[in-house]
Amino acid sequence: MKKNIFYFVFLLLIICNKNSFAQNTNTNIQNQEMQTFDSYKEVDYNQTLRPQFHFTSLKNWFNDPNGMVWYDGEYHLFFQHNPKDTKHGNMTWGHAVSADMVHWEQLPHAILPYGGGTIFSGTAVIDQNNSLGKQKGNNKTMVAVFTFAKEPFYQAAAYSTDKGRTFQLVNNGAAIVPNQGFDKGERDPKVFWHQASKKWVMVLWVKRGAKEGTPEEKLGKVRFFTSDNLTDWTMASDLEREWVFECMDFVELPVDGNKDNKKWLLYDASFDYEIGNFDGKTFTTDKKVFKGDFGTNFYAAQSFNNSPDDRTVMIGWMNQGKNSVFQNAGMPFNQQMSFPTTMELRTTPEGVRLYRWPVKEVEKLYSKSYKFKNLSVEKTEKKLSSVKAELIDMSIEFEPKNSIKLTIRGLEVAYDQKNGQFAFGTSKVAAPTIDGKVKLRVLLDRASIELFANEGAAVSTCYAVPEVGNYSISLSADGNTKINSLVINELKSSWTK
Ligand code: FRU
Repeated sequence: MKKNIFYFVFLLLIICNKNSFAQNTNTNIQNQEMQTFDSYKEVDYNQTLRPQFHFTSLKNWFNDPNGMVWYDGEYHLFFQHNPKDTKHGNMTWGHAVSADMVHWEQLPHAILPYGGGTIFSGTAVIDQNNSLGKQKGNNKTMVAVFTFAKEPFYQAAAYSTDKGRTFQLVNNGAAIVPNQGFDKGERDPKVFWHQASKKWVMVLWVKRGAKEGTPEEKLGKVRFFTSDNLTDWTMASDLEREWVFECMDFVELPVDGNKDNKKWLLYDASFDYEIGNFDGKTFTTDKKVFKGDFGTNFYAAQSFNNSPDDRTVMIGWMNQGKNSVFQNAGMPFNQQMSFPTTMELRTTPEGVRLYRWPVKEVEKLYSKSYKFKNLSVEKTEKKLSSVKAELIDMSIEFEPKNSIKLTIRGLEVAYDQKNGQFAFGTSKVAAPTIDGKVKLRVLLDRASIELFANEGAAVSTCYAVPEVGNYSISLSADGNTKINSLVINELKSSWTK
């Protein structure tokens, strides 16, 4: 009898042990088949269409920026990545780091699919107070919070004690926020530390639409949660809006640079936004909705958590779907990120609005600059005939008397004086005259054009491929138009050391 009991206990121990081992193999030891980064070293950044100062993955598909966070001298850019193909799929968090948001170094893929699910979008934070209790030595823990994409979706997390180089799943990859009842329609957690309430806050898109035919059907929802330890989350409030869809970001920004007057900005993947107040649980606004980008290819942007300075900087995915210019040209990579821009709230005659501006670090790439002041159209045309540049950061201020056309390497940017707007293809960017003047800044890379009108009051981010072999810039305008200033900076590649 005693012997039997002994065998029974022994068997039980084996079974228990086996179970816990099985759990570990499924979760903590992630799917190494997706760790394809070794093969990326065969590729360089020299292809004809490879963007030269916009982030791209060495190889394969990516979409949303994820986990953007600064820590100890490094900006981390994780991203939705397919480690095996130039199409969407196998979603994994790719990873790149940069000291200046301009020169990027891609690192091995950071968070790999596990347990039959993939890793969808999310954010990363630096656990300054060791809320998660995982800190080792002096390095603060980096905590990535993402959507575990296996129906029904839930929110999960992983942490790194070595500055994002390796990640462990929190609770073996189980839910930290369980499915809220909307199947796949709940994803892309934004997490940040809310200093005033001393809590972690999560902002989650939970659904567009309710039951078919109900008035709520069209409504998107943002669900706010709070937490003390990054693993136990309590629902705090819901915000319902028609415009809300995927990849919410939520940031606090000073108005006109005044730190005593801050407002919160909530935006979604297509960059609709509202400005309001947040008390740690509820976001209140006047429900006015604005647009943060007027281009054809700006999506799922997010901002760096734990910024090392007073700036809030965002990067968006320049989405161009399956048949992108890169895919069609047989490039080894697919899709590109927008150039990082600061986000500022400024008071305008219409109210407080968002302004975006390329980060000043772009200046590190300036190789040659041309500066002209107070010129007639005729003189400007003459001066421009000596300018040749491939990668461009140019600014112009003019006093329009009629419509104006800028042709940059074969790409036309037209100013329509009657409507007070620039047009590039189908994208229109408002630029009313201010004291009779209009300002435009243009960033041009091998596959993109970004327009910043009137100091970033309106921005347009678009795919655009300049004419190969054409390095000229020209201007045509009514002879009475005054060109107050024109600055053209030629850039060097950010990929050359
Ligand atoms: C937005 C999005 C996210 C999702 C991810 C999947 O582009 O659909 O909602 O997490 O892409 O790759």
